[in-house]
Order: sequence, then structure tokens, then C-alpha cells
Amino acid sequence: MSRLLEDKSALVTGAASGIGRATALAFGREGARVAIADIDHDGGEATVAMIREAGGDARFLSADVTREAEVEAAVRAAIDAFGCLDCAVNNAGITGAPGPIQDLAQGDFERVIALNLRGVFLCLKHEIRAMRQQGGGAIVNMASGAGLIATPGLAAYCASKHGVLGLTKTAALENARTGIRVNAICPGATDTPMLARSMAIDPQVEKMVLASLPGGRLGVADEIAEAAVWLCSDRSSFVNGDSMLVDGGAVAR
Ligand code: NAI
Repeated sequence: MSRLLEDKSALVTGAASGIGRATALAFGREGARVAIADIDHDGGEATVAMIREAGGDARFLSADVTREAEVEAAVRAAIDAFGCLDCAVNNAGITGAPGPIQDLAQGDFERVIALNLRGVFLCLKHEIRAMRQQGGGAIVNMASGAGLIATPGLAAYCASKHGVLGLTKTAALENARTGIRVNAICPGATDTPMLARSMAIDPQVEKMVLASLPGGRLGVADEIAEAAVWLCSDRSSFVNGDSMLVDGGAVAR
């Protein structure tokens, strides 16, 4: 059976851990060459090693996606390494410190927005420039169920993910005639180091997460990665500007 991303090249941000790592591994299995952009050097190199051990081609690019020069350099380095950029998954994100809005420090708010929203904007900007030059591509932004519904106690996170959906739809329409598709995935609570950290810090977050699982279980990072593979493949050629829920029905309640 032919692989879904055979001969494509991809950039995945935040792929040293969690959903990003699972996505990079899935892209490798489906035949893509994968550039991993992250601030975590050891974790990023570990993902590269896993892809290579499975017979794939990958490399690590050290990049903080909140910094434009580093994003631009990462996109250029991916193209230098693989010759083109067919797919990108803008996944790096943080939850931020939990607490109600009246107690939320400006700095904490801005840190979350800088990574989750500005980071996605900067990635989109430089990926779209590169993809326009080559005549097409597919981009997936990692949003969240919190991009669609309120998450009391995580205002900055919720605002950033609503913003990611706005960026996704706008980028999709701006590029609808360029061969570039831009979609978002809205994962539900997924078993990753980020979720484990958030639940350990605040019992309220744990309570909210456990109450949001219609199927009685967390998502697995591979289940989110499957959606990213499909959205970046030619099989989803008429899907554009979508906010795809992969959440076991959590937002359907
Ligand atoms: P994680 O914490 O396991 O992985 C996040 C990755 O982003 C790490 O490798 C980290 O080093 C990297 N990163 C952090 N700051 C960075 C920066 N400035 N530049 C580049 N890389 C940076 O998190 P997880 O759970 O895998 O989350 C991935 C994405 O999925 C995030 O955008 C998150 O908001 C989203 N998501 C996660 C859910 C969950 O329940 N785990 C639910 C809904 C959405």
C-alpha cells in the first residue's frame, strides 16, 4: 500500500515531546522527510533518532518559534536539507499558569500568547512565503478544544487557541488559490507531558479534564498525529480552513 506522505518534506514544531513527537514519527512512517524544530535539543535529537531507527529521514533544527529570525532560519534550513517544504505542523504550545483572570499576571498572559499565537503566526508567515514560491503545500496548526469553548482558569490558553483558529481560517482564504491549504486540529485532553504537568500543578485543571471525557479516557498522541497526517496528505485535497476536533466527543456535549 502506498504511504500517505511519500516523498514529501515536512516541518513539525514542538516535536521533542508529546503530540509533536508522535506527529513527526507518524510523518516518518508515512514516507515524509521530517525537520523537527524545538527548543529542547535532547528531546528533538531523540525524536530524530526514533525516526531514523524506523528507516526514515529526519533532522533537528534548534528554533524558538516566538522569535522571527529563528523561525525564518528553520524554514530555510528545512528547505536546504530536503529541497522543498510540502507540509508543516505548527504544534509548539504551552498551557500557562492556571488561575482566574483577576489573578493572571500580565507576563504570564503574554508568555502564552507569544508562544501559542505569535509562534503560529510567525511559522505561518514563513511557511506560506516558501510554499507560495514552490506553488503549494499543506499546513496544520495545533489548536485545541479550548479554541472553541471556554476553559475557566486557563484564559490566556483559551484566548490563544481561539486566535489560532482565526489565523487558520484567514490564512486558508488568503491562500485558497495558491495551492496551499491551512487547517487546524482541536485535540481534546491528550496524554502528554504537558497535560500531566498541568494536572499535577492544579487540582482544578485535573477536575476539569476528568469531567471532559465522554469516552472515559484521555486521547493518545498517535490519535492526534493521524489527523495531522491526513490533513497534510493529498487525500484531504478539498479540506481547507477547517477546525478538526479530535477529542472523543468532548466538545459535542
Ligand atoms: P508537550 O509539552 O508534550 O510538547 C510541547 C513541545 O513544544 C515541547 O517539545 C517543547 O520543548 C516545545 N516548545 C516549547 N516552547 C517552544 C518554543 N518557544 N519553540 C519551539 N518549541 C517549543 O505538549 P503537548 O501536550 O504535546 O502539546 C502540543 C500541542 O498540542 C500544544 O500546542 C498544545 O496546546 C496542544 N494541545 C494539547 C492537548 C493535550 O491535552 N496534551 C490538548 C489540546 C491541545
